[in-house]
Amino acid sequence: MKFSIVALTLALATGTLAGDPSTLSNKTYTLYQAWDAGRMLWHYTFNVTSVSDSTPLKVAPTVPIYKFVLNASDDPHNTTQLSLIDFIPGDAGYSDLWQIVKVVVPQGLAVVKSIDQLNLLVTNKTATLYPTQIYVNCPVVGATSTLENPKDAEFVTGYYKGVNASWFDFGPNPNGNATAPLYHVNTPNGIVELTDTVPGDAGYSAFWNIFTYDASNSNVNFTSVTQLSNPTYAKTLANCPVTKVGPAVANGTTTTPSASPKSSAAVTLFPSGLLTVAVMMVLGATLGL
Ligand SMILES: *[C@@H]1O[C@H](CO)[C@@H](O)[C@H](O)[C@H]1NC(C)=O
Ligand SMILES: *[C@@H]1O[C@H](CO)[C@@H](O)[C@H](O)[C@H]1NC(C)=O
Ligand SMILES: *[C@@H]1O[C@H](CO)[C@@H](O)[C@H](O)[C@H]1NC(C)=O
Ligand SMILES: *[C@@H]1O[C@H](CO)[C@@H](O)[C@H](O)[C@H]1NC(C)=O
Ligand SMILES: *[C@@H]1O[C@H](CO)[C@@H](O)[C@H](O)[C@H]1NC(C)=O
Ligand SMILES: *[C@@H]1O[C@H](CO)[C@@H](O)[C@H](O)[C@H]1NC(C)=O
Ligand SMILES: *[C@@H]1O[C@H](CO)[C@@H](O)[C@H](O)[C@H]1NC(C)=O
Ligand SMILES: *[C@@H]1O[C@H](CO)[C@@H](O)[C@H](O)[C@H]1NC(C)=O
Ligand SMILES: *[C@@H]1O[C@H](CO)[C@@H](O)[C@H](O)[C@H]1NC(C)=O
Repeated sequence: MKFSIVALTLALATGTLAGDPSTLSNKTYTLYQAWDAGRMLWHYTFNVTSVSDSTPLKVAPTVPIYKFVLNASDDPHNTTQLSLIDFIPGDAGYSDLWQIVKVVVPQGLAVVKSIDQLNLLVTNKTATLYPTQIYVNCPVVGATSTLENPKDAEFVTGYYKGVNASWFDFGPNPNGNATAPLYHVNTPNGIVELTDTVPGDAGYSAFWNIFTYDASNSNVNFTSVTQLSNPTYAKTLANCPVTKVGPAVANGTTTTPSASPKSSAAVTLFPSGLLTVAVMMVLGATLGL
């Protein structure tokens, strides 16, 4: 009797400590539309996290991704085996943003599928770690997940605690681990999203501090952050890589924000996990939903 209770407790503890990639949901991630200075842009939404700090985060949290190479000067794509990670969604400390750590290994080394194995190799000096300042945006997802436009990111398989895990590789986040602001404007026609940075701009990052702005009694067509004053920080960090930007429009041109369901906060910021309720409560309170 006592034995089986102990065994059950251990089994549960292991399940909690080591996530199971086969429990991650498989879905097609869709694009959402936002505006930057009158231009339409489109982004995906991955991890949405409620944060405790009352000031916007300057940098997004990161975790390592290990890339195995023969020489520290090798390109991180020039690997000897699949990459290794130690966090998946649901694990405490998980982040979609990964710091590349090169692992220099001898030729012909047996495949390394877990951090425990890697640690042994580092301890006995078979492998050497070289952390880089390259941060890649790699949301871990279910093994058969897809993107609305599959060409937007590479679908990659790697190892996690001895088993396979899968992620979309959006490549290096253009501004390292820095964040950028994204504004959710509550209009009579639904939520309109505004930003002032897109890929190619100096300040662009896919890791957004979410701000909200109440315009529920306004008839303004919002297409630029210059139309906002004193937005409220929603204590939320969201990974929303922008993959498409429309043509610039002449200033003064009237553009009507799309009122499609995709631009509503509830859809746009729908997080894929345990934090759904917390995030919705934060946004709900802020937006008066
Ligand atoms: C997603 O698909 C993979 C591969 O078929 C499967 O192993 C996994 O269990 C699926 N996830 C869920 C939550 O069903
Ligand atoms: C690693 O690459 C550098 C630069 O190409 C080279 O000088 C060095 O000899 C290489 N080291 C090994 C162990 O191959
Ligand atoms: C790829 O790895 C091989 C073996 O270490 C090395 O000779 C070559 O220069 C590397 N290429 C790049 C682009 O790093
Ligand atoms: C989202 O990322 C945060 C850290 O940024 C992490 O604590 C949380 O577990 C992640 N949530 C999901 C559902 O992946
Ligand atoms: C280092 O540890 C690994 C894994 O335990 C083992 O395969 C390898 O032979 C060890 N190498 C040395 C030089 O001790
Ligand atoms: C953020 O990136 C900078 C520059 O690469 C680095 O110096 C710093 O340690 C990073 N901070 C965190 C919290 O990862
Ligand atoms: C793990 O991924 C590799 C590379 O995609 C694949 O060859 C292998 O069959 C996968 N293993 C399992 C158990 O799915
Ligand atoms: C918003 O756009 C609509 C459709 O183009 C237009 O009829 C309306 O006058 C615009 N409102 C303002 C305040 O510019
Ligand atoms: C519109 O005005 C902004 C700010 O004055 C400027 O940065 C942008 O280049 C202008 N766009 C066009 C298409 O003229």
